Amino acid sequence: MEKLKGHDADDRAKASRYLLGGGLVGVPTETVYGLAADARNEKAVRNIFAVKGRPLLDPLIVHCDSLETVSVYCKVTERVRKLAADFWPGPLTLVLPRRNDSRIPAVVSAGLPTLAVRIPAHPVFLDLLSNLRILIAAPSANPFGYVSPTRASHVVESLGDRIDAVLDGGPCEHGLESTILSVGEEGSFKLLRAGPIPVKDLETSVGVPITEAIGNRENPEAPGLMPSHYRPSKGIELFPEGSAPERLSDDTACVTLARPVPAPPQPNSFWLSENGDPEEIARNLFDLLRKLDTDSRYRTIRVEFPSSSEGILRAVRDRLSRAAISPET
Ligand code: TXA
Ligand code: MG
Repeated sequence: MEKLKGHDADDRAKASRYLLGGGLVGVPTETVYGLAADARNEKAVRNIFAVKGRPLLDPLIVHCDSLETVSVYCKVTERVRKLAADFWPGPLTLVLPRRNDSRIPAVVSAGLPTLAVRIPAHPVFLDLLSNLRILIAAPSANPFGYVSPTRASHVVESLGDRIDAVLDGGPCEHGLESTILSVGEEGSFKLLRAGPIPVKDLETSVGVPITEAIGNRENPEAPGLMPSHYRPSKGIELFPEGSAPERLSDDTACVTLARPVPAPPQPNSFWLSENGDPEEIARNLFDLLRKLDTDSRYRTIRVEFPSSSEGILRAVRDRLSRAAISPET
């Protein structure tokens, strides 16, 4: 696997060549790192599923640099244009009806009559997409069910020996996956995954209410959003925000939302932000979970669960709840 620098034009050109040749490349986005392949190339796309250990029923998001490209493959209405104008490039994925003549292999969207699309805001990935002018399929670059990567080093650690290259664009700005909104043929809107863009901002944009269909086993509309996901290999236990930190055994790491005041009495204290800033909490969540997961001093990770669902904390609560469920339950 080759490590490429996102700020280097020659390295970006190399990444493009890998992609056009059917290879897999870890790419930076403003949400999490993606595992990219040419969406037109069925073999390359199947390879994404194989490398991640992802079931074929779990559809992928495709990325491009313009609404014009989206409209080649999907039905784009006035409201979709409005959403695109308000939130793209950015952390919003739209699930749109596919056009009948859309020539993207069915495996990309698990045979569904829809396609999930996003124009990402990360300058490195956006530059790559502008030069390629094709659809790039990219799920988060983690083994299926594990914590998503928010740094190039995370991709190297978990998939390094199985992919062609990683393009390093620095740590991700949001640190959590995009908000997913499904747009029905008849103009209805459903939220499939909470993310950096809050529902109320989406409702302001489209001017109609958005129903909630956050993925679970009973919800075939978001087949990949399993109850257990984003999960370290160690057990995660949640405790309510603000509940008194008890004395924990040495093999338990305790993660709070803000830096504890006064200073924590034990070395096994960690925090997601200095002062409880929601954006900072989100940005650091997956990185800290990965660090603690590989730290041999700890067997269990206890994490403070935010009481508020405002803004991005809604998505933080969603990811933590899934991380705390074991796959067997
Ligand atoms: O921020 C993100 O969205 C990142 C970056 C790389 O763009 N990508 C990402 O992809 O989180 P992934 O594959 O980890 O999660 C995408 C989820 C899938 O699990 C699936 O449930 C849903 O999007 N999805 C994709 N296509 C869909 C479709 N046609 N209908 C319904 N849900 C879809
Ligand atoms: Mg994922």
